[in-house]
Amino acid sequence: MPASASPFDFTALVRADLPPAAARWNGFPRFNFVGGHNDEGSVPVDDLIAAAGRVLRREGATLATYGMQSGPLGYRPLRDFIVRKLAKDAGITCTADEVLITSGSLQGLDLVNAALVAPGDTVIVEEMTYGGAISRLKRCGANIVGVPVDHDGLSAAKLSAALDDLAARGIRAKYIYTIPTVQNPTATVMSVARRREIIALSEQHGVPIFEDDCYADLVWTGERPTALYAMAADDRVVHIGSFSKSIAPALRIGFLVAKWPLMSRILPIKTDGGTPALDQMVLAEYCQDHFDEHIVPLRQTLRRKLVVMMESLRERFGDEVEFEDPAGGIFLWMKLPAAVDTSRLEQLAVRSGVTINPGAEWMTDAVGGRRHLRLCFAHPTEDVIREGVAQLAEICHREFGVPARDPGPHR
Ligand SMILES: Cc1ncc(COP(=O)(O)O)c(C=O)c1O
Repeated sequence: MPASASPFDFTALVRADLPPAAARWNGFPRFNFVGGHNDEGSVPVDDLIAAAGRVLRREGATLATYGMQSGPLGYRPLRDFIVRKLAKDAGITCTADEVLITSGSLQGLDLVNAALVAPGDTVIVEEMTYGGAISRLKRCGANIVGVPVDHDGLSAAKLSAALDDLAARGIRAKYIYTIPTVQNPTATVMSVARRREIIALSEQHGVPIFEDDCYADLVWTGERPTALYAMAADDRVVHIGSFSKSIAPALRIGFLVAKWPLMSRILPIKTDGGTPALDQMVLAEYCQDHFDEHIVPLRQTLRRKLVVMMESLRERFGDEVEFEDPAGGIFLWMKLPAAVDTSRLEQLAVRSGVTINPGAEWMTDAVGGRRHLRLCFAHPTEDVIREGVAQLAEICHREFGVPARDPGPHR
């Protein structure tokens, strides 16, 4: 732009329904407990480099085509790996033609919404759920019905009541969205009995299930229950998964599993020319030999960090913070006394370089979420977790009198 030209003003031209303008990125804060970042030391850099070299030497010329001669569903060896992995770990029987590689499982959420949800439609979600799912549904103009989650996952009794209530009003929800295995944010794992009940309710009311299983590899015991997709007798479940939590979120590789009648409607709206090829090729090459040996130490590292976080919270907040020991994953979800407003705490904490996810963004009832808080323990080091929790306790004590006892300066 010549020095004299004034910038073009788009203000009057941008759509009125856009989200608020983005802030410029100024680097990560020192105590970064937000989002779904993973442990840096666990990224298998050397094996990824070796995999990239091998696969590029062998198949690099296929980059000359959109879709690497694998078609629009994505790189065939990666889909084959996912088919084998889902059969082994989740009890899912599917073919490579029922697996679509997506640019992160977020694209899976977008595609399912684009295929099924129109403004004014009703969607059932867990009352505490993934903020990215809530914000997307709001953008679609959906009516969001939140159903409570208990220790066994989505409450069947409350789901039944919600479905009855909708039916009485002549409304059939478009889907029931659930994160059954290491729920975000509560980290609960839905029991097998509960899975049966949810499927039965889905059948009774003719409402399909949207299963988001992106944390399923991170159950500490290494054993995840059979997926809802595998338990349903028919085609009523759409399943999405991701490599973001098991390998690396920056790779942006997820997948969607659906039977062909729905897949054939979703595929035409994935109009991005294909999920990036190198990511798919490298991941497939790496995972075939290394996935299982990689995931076990990753779980152990994450569990160690979680223990540090739970101990730090107990040390600094005493019994004034409530949480359950998560069954897996990368997040700790907690409840503070009524005096605390975590949205305000977030604003204050960020000034001291501590970022947190306030509960209001993770609950369908934003007011009910104001005492809740989610912390990601996967990315910070153990020392940073200790220091960051101490900082947070100090700020919370100063502003809200919680913890009641001065937690002391962080060391
Ligand atoms: C429940 C859930 N679904 C989907 C995603 C999106 O993950 P990605 O697009 O990185 O696969 C996340 C990310 O945190 C999540 O928590």
